[in-house]
Order: sequence, then structure tokens, then C-alpha cells
Amino acid sequence: MIKVGETFPSGKVPLTKQVQLEDVFLANPSRFDGVADMCRLSELSAPCLLHNLVVRFRAGLIYTYTGPLLISINPFQPIAGLYDDSTMSSYRGSNVSEKDPHVFAAAESALQSLFRDKMDQSIVISGESGAGKTEAAKSIMRYLAFWNMESGDGTGGDRSSEDEGGEKSMERVFLQTNPLTEAFGNAKTIRNDNSSRFGKFIRIHVTKSHRISEAYIEHYLLEKSRVTHQAEGERNYHIFYQLCAGAGEDMLAVLKLSAASAHKFSRQGKCLSIPGVDDSADFRTTKNALSSVGIPPTAQEGIWRILAGILHLGDIEFGALKDGSGTMNDGAEDVACRVLGLEPADARTALCQRKIKAGLEVLQVPKSRMEAILSRDAVSRALYTRLFDWLLERINEVLSAQVSGSSSSSSVGCIGLLDIFGFEILEENGFEQLCINYANEKLQRYFNDQMLSSEQEEYAAEEVEWVRVDYEDNLSVLELLEGKPEGILPILDDQCLFATATDSSFLQVLSKKHASSKDFTQPKLKHTSFLVKHSAGSVEYLVLGFLDKNKDQLYSDLTELLASSRVSIIKDMFSPSSSSSSSSSSKSRQMGRQLGSKASQHISVSAKFREQLQQLMKTLARTRPTFVRCIKPNAAKAPLLLHAGMVDHQLRCSGVYAAVKIAQAGYPSRISFLDFATRYRMLVRGSHVKTLEEAREQSRSILLDFCSDSSLYQLGKHKIFMKGGVLARLEE
Ligand SMILES: Nc1ncnc2c1ncn2[C@@H]1O[C@H](COP(=O)(O)OP(=O)(O)O)[C@@H](O)[C@H]1O
Ligand SMILES: [Mg+2]
Repeated sequence: MIKVGETFPSGKVPLTKQVQLEDVFLANPSRFDGVADMCRLSELSAPCLLHNLVVRFRAGLIYTYTGPLLISINPFQPIAGLYDDSTMSSYRGSNVSEKDPHVFAAAESALQSLFRDKMDQSIVISGESGAGKTEAAKSIMRYLAFWNMESGDGTGGDRSSEDEGGEKSMERVFLQTNPLTEAFGNAKTIRNDNSSRFGKFIRIHVTKSHRISEAYIEHYLLEKSRVTHQAEGERNYHIFYQLCAGAGEDMLAVLKLSAASAHKFSRQGKCLSIPGVDDSADFRTTKNALSSVGIPPTAQEGIWRILAGILHLGDIEFGALKDGSGTMNDGAEDVACRVLGLEPADARTALCQRKIKAGLEVLQVPKSRMEAILSRDAVSRALYTRLFDWLLERINEVLSAQVSGSSSSSSVGCIGLLDIFGFEILEENGFEQLCINYANEKLQRYFNDQMLSSEQEEYAAEEVEWVRVDYEDNLSVLELLEGKPEGILPILDDQCLFATATDSSFLQVLSKKHASSKDFTQPKLKHTSFLVKHSAGSVEYLVLGFLDKNKDQLYSDLTELLASSRVSIIKDMFSPSSSSSSSSSSKSRQMGRQLGSKASQHISVSAKFREQLQQLMKTLARTRPTFVRCIKPNAAKAPLLLHAGMVDHQLRCSGVYAAVKIAQAGYPSRISFLDFATRYRMLVRGSHVKTLEEAREQSRSILLDFCSDSSLYQLGKHKIFMKGGVLARLEE
């Protein structure tokens, strides 16, 4: 079969080709080529849907509906006019079903639904790394931020950064959070030059007058291993390169920094710059954004010290003494200590020696060279992750502190925006990938429940005529990952409680418990990895480092060392008495609690993440979701290139094919007999109905009179199920 987008090696288009009968599918009439909503197609086979997407993509139309689901294919190049202010204003207050598919339409219909139904909304963006999730989220944030702008003359995006009276508006501050989360939370990876290395869920409260009254950013699982190690072709977090390139001479002298190429933690990936990215200019943007969210100059200096200190820590070399114990051998620690405000002697002791309790005595025992290196890396990662948490706390404070000015009581409700890391299947997958992929299974489950399962269950319960559409559910793999007590993550937590447990004993327990599980395999000749059959494909996980990463302990002597810093933000971050959570405003804390942020008590990384996801699922369950499925059309990040096989795989794994079938055959509007009969009673001069049976009969006669095509609706036990457009016709 000739696949879309494929040419033959000779470059010629073949005239004939033999194919198997099962590979032949009926096509839709050509006048349907490139329809905006694929539910309008009569043939819904995968090749037909793919063909439709390809036709649209080639015409620069990256968005397509499949019923209520919005598909977005990354063009990897700007498309003229697609996000400008006039496009944005054309969606504002519009009848979105008549407009082209767009992320602005998704935002607009969420807002309209919020006001109309007084129900919280969510926009759930999913897709693999580099599929365009974060760009979609940013466009939606921009749309929400400027929704209150009445004029459609394009002034929305160009307003000066100060509103009248010199006040920075909530919307401005809200948008300024993007350069910050990107500078500190994004990095260049093989798959995406601007890859978010954390997940985020933003709750945005909207007032009656269409303004944002407050917002809260919940963040998940920053990839901390990147701080001390980057794979070839990848970079550390953008902010390190921004600082080295953009800090002036004076600041560099204070921080004792040189170019990013001079420091181990920024040069390991052998990738220092990104085509089209000016780190120095981005540094100015980051600094402005820090000031916009109210981070004072002294705290900003503290931030630069932490970042520079991490780079200096990475340059400390450790030698081994004859007895194998570690020693520092080039004095680089003095530079790190000066920048981080630490006593060099204390740092040497904490990094190279360990305290051991023997009865009532505390002994100092030398660490091996390897242990000393691990301590150095643990300190570096802890500094960075606490800085990231601290920064998000400050951002959340300012996003919630504005409440007093704009009166939170006038908030009509909330829109949640989820931009979480997509499935990752790398050459080498570790603990981080397991957590990320677990999160994706949870989201897939949510999608399946909302779009595929509950929809069909409702038809069955209401006894509506319905031919069931089958789909791959992911319950068994979720059970394998999180089921208690024998799921992979609970077993990992359990193993972390035993002092003698190791990564290999963890693997042995897994293999024993899951020998017969259909989604789990252990490669025959290897004793270092296991395979999980995820919705998006099989992933081999190397167990090395699982226990340490899950425990994520910073030994008390290292915490004490950092708490002794003369740099106040470092001291604050590591002192038990003034942990960053205790300094946050009560409002921001309260919003955090709604999302389940735990106090600083030590729980394992995976347990905390599972708890966060549980809370997220509960929050989502209280909202009406809109799904945006982002698709990565080629692996080379090439502009406007689409590999059909790659797109097909993503659509299939994420349940889009099944969703189209259900959406097309289904009845998107539904209303109870009682509501229907009462609302449209005057159409048939009907009477006041009291019982369900009376309401049902009156509804039936209204429909018989006003909807001649009986295939457009069905009567259930309690409700009427209608195709799109029926209610609109009655309203007319
Ligand atoms: N709508 C779009 N128009 C043009 N380019 C885009 C669009 N969406 C994504 N891109 C390009 O793809 C890159 C990766 O997108 P991103 O949103 O960071 O992916 P994800 O968050 O899914 O990993 C962006 O940096 C940008 O270059
Ligand atoms: Mg992203």
C-alpha cells in the first residue's frame, strides 16, 4: 500500500501496486476532503481519517475536530496570522461551532460553558514530547488573559506592560509566568529544543467582568537528574546558559562564572547553544519577568548565586586516598563555597565524611570517592529543585495576592489548564520515565472514561439503540503500575523501607510478583531491566538508581550545611523552621492544599507524585473537560512534514479513532424530558407536565412536530439524546 507522504525510491509515483484486500478501504467522496470536523465523514477507517488530516495539514490547517476533541498537528514553523490579535478577537463571543477549529475555540467554548452552566471547566492537553502542548497552553493562556478586551482591533496583545494608574494587571503578571517557568523548567532535549521537564496544571479563576481574578500553578515532578547529567545533544535547564551568556561582567565577577562551556554541568551534553535562540536576550526577558512577579533584587541575586554555585559544585573534582576514601583535590570547592555563602571547611566535611551514630557517640567516617561525588550531585540537585519550588511559590503568591484588588468573590468559576509531559520512550528509560509514563496512563484512563466509556454506558443505561464501539482500555497496565500492594510503584516504596534492599532486589521482587502479568516482562538474559507494555508501546526500564531516586534523601549533614549558608534564600530553603512552604501567603497555601500539596514531611518521590495525580484526577472529575490532542508529525522537527505512520500511531494509541466513531454515532446534546417539555411547551401549546410519563409524551410530540428527521434523536428512559443542531433549530 502506498502510504500518505511516502514516495518511491525512484521518485516516481507508481501507477499500479498490488495490495491485500484487507488493506483496501472505502474512501469518502472527494468533496469531503479536508473537512474541519471528521465526524462529518461517512467512512471513518484510519486511512480515511489520516487522509483528511494530511489534506488539511498541507493547506496549513493544523487544527481539526473529531467531535468534541481538538486535534492539533505541530507545523514546526509559524503560520501567518494563526494566533494574532484579530484572529483571537474573531473567536471572542462567537458561535464556535461555526468557526474553524482552533485552540482559541477550545478556550472560548470552555469560557462560554463556564458562564452558561456555572460549572468549572478544564482543558486537558496531551501528546508526546515536542507535539506542541506547551505552545497550545500558552496560546490558551493568552486568550484567557485578553478575553476581557472588548475591541477587536488588535490592541489586546500590544497593551503596554503597565495598565492605567501604573498597576501591572493580573493578566500581565499571569503571562509573565511563562518565560519564568520555561527558563527554569525547560531544556533542550533530543526531541524538543524547548522541552518542559515538569508537568503543570494551572487553575484560572474568571470574574463576571471576564477578568482573571487569581490563578494557581500546580507543578509536578521536575526532572532533577538533568541538573547534574545531560545526555549527548541535550542541555541543562535554559537558565544556566542564559546566566552565563547574559550576566554582565560585574555580575559574572561576583559569581566567578565564565562561559557555559567552562563548566561540567553545562557542557556534558556537548550542546551549548540552540539555533534561533539568543540566551543573552532571553536572560533579560527572564530578569524582567522576575521583577514583574515581584522578586526583589536581593532575592534575584540569591537566585544567581544558587545557579552559579551549582555550576561550581559540578567542577569540584574528587580524588581517592590510598584507603579508597574521597578527597577534594583542586580547590574548586572554595569558589563554590564563596558563591553559596558556605564555610569551605564545613563543606569539605559534609561532602567527604558521613556521621554515624554509635551508641551515644557520633563518629565521622570517610566517604568513598564515589560517595563523595554522589553527595556533591545530591546537593546540586537539591539546590535546584528547592529553587524551582521556591520560585513557583512566589509566583503563586503573586497570582493569588492580586485577589484583594480584583475581589475573589466575583469569581464565577475556574478553568484548569493541564500541560503535562507526554509519553517518553527513550533509548535508556529510568525512574523518571516510569513516573512520566504512569502519569500518561492516568490521563489516558481519564480520556477513555470521559470520551469512550461513560458515554457508551449512558446509552446502555438509558436503553438507547447503540452498537458498542470497542477500544483498548488501559486498566491492566494501570493496575500493574499502581495497584496495591503489588503494583510496581507500591513495591518500589516498600523496598525503599528496607536498609538492605537494592535495585536488583527490587527487580527480583517485581519479576516474581508479575511473572504472569501480560503487561510485564523481564528480558531473559538481562538482570538489569524490565519491560512494561504501555498504551503507547513497550518501554524497557533500567532499574539502576530506582531506589535512590525514589527515596530522594538529602542526608541531614548536607541539609545542615546548606541551612548554614550566609545567602538568605538558601538558608530559608533548607532551614526546618523557615521552610519555603511556611513563608508562603495563606491564600497561596490554601489553593495549594486544594490540590493536595503536602507539607514538607518526607515521603517518597513516587508516593508524592501518586498523591498529586490522585488529587488532579479528583479536581478534573469536578470539571467539564475539553481535550486537545497534540500530534508530532515527524521526528526531525522539520517544518510542515508529516509522516503518516507516526501520526497513525499517535492517533491509535490515544484512542482518537475510537473517539471519532463514538462521537459520530453519538448524540452530543441531551436533556431530561421534564426540562425539555417545560422549555418547549409553548411550541405545541402543551400543558404543565408533572410526571415523567407526561413529560416524555409531551417531548415526543414536540419532536414529531418540529424535527421531521427521526434519526436525529432518540428517547431514552429519562432523557432525549440529540444530534448537534436539533436544539438550535428548536430555539429558532
Ligand atoms: N502551533 C505551533 N506553531 C508553530 N510552531 C509550533 C507550534 N506548536 C509547537 N511548535 C514548535 O514545536 C516546538 C515544540 O513545541 P512544545 O509546545 O514545546 O511541545 P511539547 O510541550 O508538546 O513538548 C516549539 O518550540 C515550536 O518550535
Ligand atoms: Mg512542553
